[in-house]
Parts: sequence; structure tokens; C-alpha cells
Amino acid sequence: MAKTFIEQLLFPDMAFDSIKLQKTISGKTIVITGASYGIGEQLTLLFSNYDVHLILIARTAEKLNTIADIVRKNGSKCSLITADFYQETEVDRAVNELNVLTDTIDVFVSNAGKSIMRSLENSLSRFHDFTRTNSINYLAPIKIILAITPLLKASHGHIINVSAINVLLLPAPKWAAYQASKTAFDQWIRCNTAEWKIMKIKAKTIYLPLVKTKMIAPNKKYKNYPAMQPEQAAFRIAKLLYSSKTRSKPWWLIFPQLGSFFGEKIWEKISFFSLKKDDESSI
Ligand SMILES: NC(=O)c1ccc[n+]([C@@H]2O[C@H](COP(=O)([O-])OP(=O)(O)OC[C@H]3O[C@@H](n4cnc5c(N)ncnc54)[C@H](OP(=O)(O)O)[C@@H]3O)[C@@H](O)[C@H]2O)c1
Repeated sequence: MAKTFIEQLLFPDMAFDSIKLQKTISGKTIVITGASYGIGEQLTLLFSNYDVHLILIARTAEKLNTIADIVRKNGSKCSLITADFYQETEVDRAVNELNVLTDTIDVFVSNAGKSIMRSLENSLSRFHDFTRTNSINYLAPIKIILAITPLLKASHGHIINVSAINVLLLPAPKWAAYQASKTAFDQWIRCNTAEWKIMKIKAKTIYLPLVKTKMIAPNKKYKNYPAMQPEQAAFRIAKLLYSSKTRSKPWWLIFPQLGSFFGEKIWEKISFFSLKKDDESSI
């Protein structure tokens, strides 16, 4: 898809070393959650060129089957698990199926996610927004990682957390369900990183900006916002695997991060006035 000048500036294509990736993942077993669409789908297609065993998890069986056909044509092995991460019993079943499918896991990519932008007033009778985002963005990946930590320890493997830049910035109105659950998981990963290091497990996080996937489609405002392509996100995740860096974030994130550090009061005022403007325009 054609990129605008601003998109090329904000999300430049980066140097990518295919040989290094080959050395890192060839022959390995990689589990990707949320592999049926968007970033997970693109990552799956990228990895499928490197002779790997991909274990893909998502709800949409038909889409997973289509992707599995391509993976096999590209020369890699593919196994599928369908599970709905909103249900704890389904996460348990996915863990059991993983145990049956393999006794080796080298890479776990926690990518499945649910985003919600909704005002507090419109959330009053929607407690399920919070249980669902918590389940998929926070609790399900924890349950899976706890179960597979012995396998990752044995393989000196990788955990990749697909996160969002918002986690590193001041909280934004209407994003409570998404931002709280993504931040909770990010904190969980960061708390455990030193312990995993002792086990020789590498935990890495990519903090993504807006990415053009079906996740952002319901928000009409984002249609014309500059956004990264899902293929670019996939390349950045793959690069994180073979590089010594533990975090990947856009080059320009330092500026809003500085703003978050020094400008909390100003941000509170901006948030308040933007909400007031929203209210007035909806009268
Ligand atoms: N797009 C962005 O702007 C953006 C920005 C920052 C970070 N991210 C992060 O990037 C990751 C991938 O997002 P994306 O943009 O690629 O979104 P997407 O295109 O909507 O894909 C989400 C993936 O998660 C799976 N999923 C959704 N609900 C599920 C459930 N209840 N149980 C199991 N799997 C479920 C979906 O598969 P099924 O529907 O088949 O289950 C799909 O494969 C997420 O963690 C998101 O937070 C995205």
C-alpha cells in the first residue's frame, strides 16, 4: 500500500538482515497468538520462509487454515489451535493442546489483542469491556507463559510482547480498558525480565504506534491518520528477535515521552478541553 510522505518519515522501512533471522529461527518452534489477522498474520507469513514450526492461535479457524496452507507451501510446518481468549477454560484448553503438539518452544509471540476506545459514560453497563480486555491482553498470555516457561528455559527461548506506545505515555481519556490491560501486561513482563534472564529466557517488547489493521477500522477518525503497515510491524518484531535490543519503539517516541515526563499538568488540561469540545460537538 502506498505510504504518504509523513508515514515514510514516521515509519521508515528499516534495514533487515535475513541471514541473521535465518540463523536465529531456522528449525525452531514458534507460537504466535492472534495469527489470523493483521500483525500476527504478517509475522506468520514472514517467518514461514525460514523453515520453522509455527503454532498459530486465534478464534477464526477458516482464516487460520488459509494461512496454514501458505505456510506449508513456503516450506514450514504449521499447527493450529483455535481458542477464544475471553474464556479462561479456552485458554486452559489451548495450553493443553500446546502440550500435546510439542515438547519444544523456542519463541512465544504474545500478539492477540483487543482494543477499545469508549467513554466512561458509555461504559457504565459494559463491565464486560474490562473483563474481555483483561482476559486477552493480560491474563491469557500470563497463563500461557507460566505453562511454557519450563520449555522456554530448556530452549533458552524468547518471549515477545506486542505492546503499544500508549503504555509508555500518560493515560488518555476513553482508553481505560485497553491502556490499563496493556500496561498491566507490560509491567508483568518487566517485573519478570530479570528472573527470566537467569533462566536464559530473553523477554522483549515492541511498542507499536497506530498500525493499519482491522483493530483500528471501527474508529473513523483513524482513517486518515498516519499509520504503520502491518508488514512493517512484522519486520520490526522479527528484527527484535535477532538483535541484542530488548525494546523496539518508534524513533520519535522520545518526544511524547519527554512531554509525558514534564507536561503532566498540560496533558490533563488538553484531555479536559478535548473532552469538553467532544461534548459540545455532540449536542
Ligand atoms: N493496530 C494497532 O494500531 C496497534 C497499535 C499498537 C499495538 N497493537 C497491538 O498489536 C497486536 C495485534 O493487533 P492487530 O492490530 O494485528 O489487530 P487485529 O488485526 O485485530 O488482530 C487481532 C488478532 O487477535 C486475535 N483475537 C482477537 N480476539 C481474540 C480472542 N478473544 N481470542 C483469541 N484471539 C483473539 C484475532 O483473531 P480472531 O479474531 O480470529 O480470534 C487476530 O488474529 C495487539 O496486541 C494490539 O494491541 C496494535
